[in-house]
Amino acid sequence: MSDRQTDALGRLWPAYGLDVPDGPVVPVDLADLFGRRAPVVLEIGSGMGDSTAAMAAADPDRDYLAVEVHTPGIANLLDLVERGGLRNVRVAEGDALSLVKGLPQGVLDAVHIFFPDPWPKTRHHKRRIIQPAHVALLRSRLRPGGTLHCATDWAEYAESMRETLEADPGLVDTYGGFAPRPAHRPVTKFERRAITAGRPVADLIYRRR
Ligand SMILES: C[S@@+](CC[C@H](N)C(=O)[O-])C[C@H]1O[C@@H](n2cnc3c(N)ncnc32)[C@H](O)[C@@H]1O
Repeated sequence: MSDRQTDALGRLWPAYGLDVPDGPVVPVDLADLFGRRAPVVLEIGSGMGDSTAAMAAADPDRDYLAVEVHTPGIANLLDLVERGGLRNVRVAEGDALSLVKGLPQGVLDAVHIFFPDPWPKTRHHKRRIIQPAHVALLRSRLRPGGTLHCATDWAEYAESMRETLEADPGLVDTYGGFAPRPAHRPVTKFERRAITAGRPVADLIYRRR
């Protein structure tokens, strides 16, 4: 981590951080975490936090909870939060699915999963975040009408995501297949790399029934 990230983590973690322990599920009270009752967006695998910080800054009436396992990314997001004077961001460190299990049903306004690890080898597909049981879990935490927004530059994963999301009985496709790229999703390093390499990026936006 850079000195700046180490400093940001040390100073800001107590106010903005949420530890997600391994082991038994710990209930999370979102109103308590954010100090207010507002619609909450969960961003899974926030990376360096660029999307979270930009979207939270542009959307102050919603709260953004980012979850990551990569500590330098968490520290970078905390630094962005401070520099942007953002009050509507909290950062969870740990496994996204453990965090989600600790949330009450129907509590999220949206779930964002941007460029999740593609796990390209067939024998590793079971590690993918988008698979039927995980989608059912995520959907259960969305409010009716709440959105699940995924983006990927991995064509085979995009198709697998579409099939998985289509097959979930509690989700409705907003765009009849792949969605047009929404302007509100910031371009991150992963997307720039994909564009340079000539890999098209797919957005999938589904709603809970
Ligand atoms: C390919 S990166 C994309 C980062 C970011 N969304 C972006 O678009 O720049 C995938 C991220 O998911 C995180 N991740 C992987 N498994 C995770 C898990 N179980 N819980 C939380 N984050 C996870 C990784 O640490 C990594 O930062």
